[in-house]
Amino acid sequence: MAGSGTDDDPSWPDKRQLDNCRRCPLWEHATQGVPGEGARTASIVLVGEQPGDEEDMLGRPFVGPAGKLLRTLMKEAGIDAATAYITNAVKHFKWEPRGKRRLHKTPAQREFDACQVWLETEIATLAPHVIVALGAKALVAVTGRRITIAAGRESTLVREDGTRVVATFHPSAILRAPDHDRRAELREIVRADLETAARLAKKSVPRPVSDRRVAAR
Ligand code: URA
Repeated sequence: MAGSGTDDDPSWPDKRQLDNCRRCPLWEHATQGVPGEGARTASIVLVGEQPGDEEDMLGRPFVGPAGKLLRTLMKEAGIDAATAYITNAVKHFKWEPRGKRRLHKTPAQREFDACQVWLETEIATLAPHVIVALGAKALVAVTGRRITIAAGRESTLVREDGTRVVATFHPSAILRAPDHDRRAELREIVRADLETAARLAKKSVPRPVSDRRVAAR
């Protein structure tokens, strides 16, 4: 699974491949590509939107404030890091300057589309039992459906390759919540959704290897 593929033949999105990716212009202002991270036998894949400032500097996903919260909530929900893989729909940090700070800027749909091949390669190779979409942008990338997180949470979401999808709020929505009550409410929702994912992952029967590289969508 090690990344022997080229940008035209993405066998696995490893660091070198992502650093060399020119499928969209985001590489120009990012420090580096940020690959997913976690167990190659993961039964749960968690997908965020794009790396943030700290992730861009360190080259690792979800290591900043939102990532720390996500990892705490995963632990509370009983998701063992050894059974999980964490990645993003877009692998380069898109930002705009605000004084000395680099502010997160939501990638354009064409940038999500350009990066889709890397995400699909990760999903097809890992063949997880469950994918957790963190936020609406990740939900579109994972399901191809433009629905809100609220609607996604009320539906049974299944990709064309048969993988169950659990929609939940992005941990940064908890951090940005306007007051303590909303923060506590969102935190509880995300924790409960992660518990659902853990339960689904335990119940699922692994798909046979021959069935794993099913094209999504
Ligand atoms: N937010 C994301 O969606 N992904 C990260 O890696 C960090 C913050």
